Amino acid sequence: MSKVVLSYSGGLDTTVAIFLLKEKYGFDEVVTVTVDIGQPEDDIKEAEERGRRYADKHYTVDAKKEFVEALMQLIKANGEYEGYVLGTALARPIIAEKVVEVAKKEGADAIAHGCTGKGNDQLRFGNVFYQYGFRVIAPMRELNLTREWEIEYAKEKGIEVPATKEKPYSIDENLWSRSVEGGKLEDPTFVPPEDIWEWTANPVKAPDEPEIVKIDFEKGIPVALNDERMDGLELIGKLNEIGGKHGVGRTDIIEDRVLGLKSRECYEHPAATILITAHRDLERLVLSRRELKFKRFVEEEWAELVYYGLTNDPLFDALNAFIDRTQERVTGWVKVKLFKGSVIPVARYSDFALYRPELTSFDTTTIDQKYAEGFSRFHGLQGRIYREIMKKLSH
Ligand code: ARG
Repeated sequence: MSKVVLSYSGGLDTTVAIFLLKEKYGFDEVVTVTVDIGQPEDDIKEAEERGRRYADKHYTVDAKKEFVEALMQLIKANGEYEGYVLGTALARPIIAEKVVEVAKKEGADAIAHGCTGKGNDQLRFGNVFYQYGFRVIAPMRELNLTREWEIEYAKEKGIEVPATKEKPYSIDENLWSRSVEGGKLEDPTFVPPEDIWEWTANPVKAPDEPEIVKIDFEKGIPVALNDERMDGLELIGKLNEIGGKHGVGRTDIIEDRVLGLKSRECYEHPAATILITAHRDLERLVLSRRELKFKRFVEEEWAELVYYGLTNDPLFDALNAFIDRTQERVTGWVKVKLFKGSVIPVARYSDFALYRPELTSFDTTTIDQKYAEGFSRFHGLQGRIYREIMKKLSH
């Protein structure tokens, strides 16, 4: 008896994969696993139904807690890759770990996923599955399948699949972000129609009154919204709602995939935009200029490792150690104003603020301004010497 565990979303690719794993790969048993990372409940239910119907056994595993925990670290890291807030990227290794748990429990011979050979997810899943020594099967990639072919195949076999030719986009959604790609969006000159957006209102039609929200952070982690303490899951949910209403958190970008292929992606992520904007603002109040400058490089590396699915690299641990050290003082609150698609910090407070109004103020004499004269004499000294030399040489 050969058994394969399939990471199962309930979508077209993975549903077709159930059949291919038997027909083309000769497995006797296919076990499907759907991991809940905050995708729409209907999607999970549908996956469950299809899994039960077409596979030999189905699991639904809740990983929202693990995902939120990882997202809290992402907020500390202001995690963003080319303007993308990494929702799918960060979720993949968490999904993969859960699938591995099932595969071990089931004594499976292999793990399969429905990723194509063109995207990033094959790499993110693969890295975890190989880590645990599993044989990895990727039917879409190995059989070089197209969606067109899959739809025909499903029809022939009488498999009920969600994607029809009228459902033109590939959508990936979890509690952090919703991404829409493919179909007509593949033409970068094509302006997305309003109906691709589900989480965010059209900023033009968003409320005419701005809304201010207050977010409290403790050691870089958001802990309260408008003075009400809540866990990360609830906080993200509420901010997605409030931000979405104001049209906050839409992006339409050309992204560099790991393979080097460029792709056009449309994302929605109100909570992510609000939280990262607020968090960055609090950091500017608390961290030293050198910390801020250096942390930007750290953040860039951090985001790239997440995007590449390389969070098992020792560098990731080292970057996190640096990030955590800086976040020890990132405690306080920020108020941001939401208005027709924009998020603007309007107030901030921290006990650890390096900002001292009595020093900076136009109205105080705490600092004797004359002290600055000596500084000023040295400031730009090398540049002045250089200009002098060049002037002389040009005569
Ligand atoms: N480009 C993003 C990433 O690599 C999102 C991919 C989401 N997938 C999708 N089917 N829309 O993480």
